[in-house]
Amino acid sequence: MWPLVLWLFVGSWCLGSAQLLLRKVKSVEFTVCNETVVIPCFVSNVEAQSTKEMYVKWKLNKTYIFNYDGNRNNSIVESNFSSAKISVSELLKGDASLKMDKRDAVVGNYTCEVTELIREGKTVIELKYRVASWFSPNEKILIVIFPILAILLFWGKFGILTLKYKSTRTSKKIILLLITGLMLTIIVIVGAILFIPGEYPVKNASGLGLIVISTIILIFLQYNVFMTAFGMTSFTIAILITQVLGYVLAVVGLCLCIMACEPVHGPLLISGLGIIALAELLGLVYMKFVASNQRTIQPPRNN
Ligand SMILES: *[C@@H]1O[C@H](CO)[C@@H](O)[C@H](O)[C@H]1NC(C)=O
Ligand SMILES: *[C@@H]1O[C@H](CO)[C@@H](O)[C@H](O)[C@H]1NC(C)=O
Ligand SMILES: *[C@@H]1O[C@H](CO)[C@@H](O)[C@H](O)[C@H]1NC(C)=O
Ligand SMILES: *[C@@H]1O[C@H](CO)[C@@H](O)[C@H](O)[C@H]1NC(C)=O
Ligand SMILES: *[C@@H]1O[C@H](CO)[C@@H](O)[C@H](O)[C@H]1NC(C)=O
Repeated sequence: MWPLVLWLFVGSWCLGSAQLLLRKVKSVEFTVCNETVVIPCFVSNVEAQSTKEMYVKWKLNKTYIFNYDGNRNNSIVESNFSSAKISVSELLKGDASLKMDKRDAVVGNYTCEVTELIREGKTVIELKYRVASWFSPNEKILIVIFPILAILLFWGKFGILTLKYKSTRTSKKIILLLITGLMLTIIVIVGAILFIPGEYPVKNASGLGLIVISTIILIFLQYNVFMTAFGMTSFTIAILITQVLGYVLAVVGLCLCIMACEPVHGPLLISGLGIIALAELLGLVYMKFVASNQRTIQPPRNN
C-alpha cells in the first residue's frame, strides 16, 4: 500500500515539474489605431537549447489557426489568418506571442499551447476590440465649455459697449460686432453639436475644427470692442497678445490631434482654448474697470 502511495505522490510531483509556466494575461484589446495585433504568450521556464525542441500551437475558440513545428522549422497558418506569425528568434527567450495584421484579427478566446520535449503548458487570452474614443468625456466638455464661456464674456463686453459708449459714431461698428458675434455663436454651437455625440471621426473632427478655428473671430471682436470703446492701451495689447498665443496653441494642438490616431495632445488644445477664454475674461474685467472709472472723470489719487 505505502509504496504505491509514495509512487503516486512522486509521480505527480514529477508531472508537476514537467509543466511549462505561462504568464497569465486575461485579455488584450486593440483599436482602430493598431496596425498589428499582438496576442502575448510568455513562457517563464524555457530550458530548450534549440527551437528544434519546441512546438507552438495557437487556437481561436476551438479551431487551430497556427502551428509552428520547431523540428521542421515550419509554420502552418489557417487561410483566414495569413498574416499570423511568431518570432522564431524570440522563442528560446520564452516569447511565443502571435502577431497578425489588424485585417486578420478577430475577437475571441485564443489559446497558446507551447511544448518543449515532454514539458508543455497552455494559456487562454481573450482578444477584445475597443472602440477608440477620440477624446474622453471630460476633455470633450472642456473643449466645448471654454469657447462658449469666451463667447458669453464677449457678449458681456458687447453689453457694456452698447450701454456706455453708444453714440451715432459707433453705432455702425456696434452693428458689425453684433452680426459677427451672432455668426461666431452659431458656428460654435454647430461645431459643438457635431463634435460632442458619437464616435464618428470625420463628423467629430469637423466639429472640432469649426470650434477651434472660429475662435480667431474672438480676437477680431475683442480688438474692435477695445477700439470702439477707448482705443489701445498697454493692457489691451497684452490681453490681445495672450489671446493670439492661446489661439496658436489651440491650432497647433488641433493639428497634432487630427494627425495622430489617438489624440495625445488633447491637453495642449484644451489649454489653448482655456487661454483664449482667460483673455476674454481679462478683457471684460478691464473694460468694466475703465468704464466705471470714466464715469468719475478723473479717479482721485489720494482718498
Ligand atoms: C494596440 O496598441 C496599443 C498602443 O500601441 C498597445 O498597447 C496594445 O497592446 C495593442 N494591442 C494589441 C492587441 O496588440
Ligand atoms: C527557420 O526558418 C527561417 C526562415 O524561414 C530562418 O530565418 C531561421 O534561421 C530558421 N531557424 C532555424 C532554427 O533553423
Ligand atoms: C474563414 O472566413 C470565412 C469567411 O469569412 C468563414 O466563413 C469561415 O468560417 C472562417 N474560418 C475559420 C476557421 O474561422
Ligand atoms: C469566436 O467566438 C466569438 C464569441 O463566441 C465569436 O464572436 C467569434 O466570431 C468566434 N471566432 C471564430 C473565428 O469562430
Ligand atoms: C472568452 O472566455 C471568457 C471566459 O471563459 C468568456 O467570459 C468570454 O465571453 C469569452 N469570449 C469570447 C469572445 O468568446
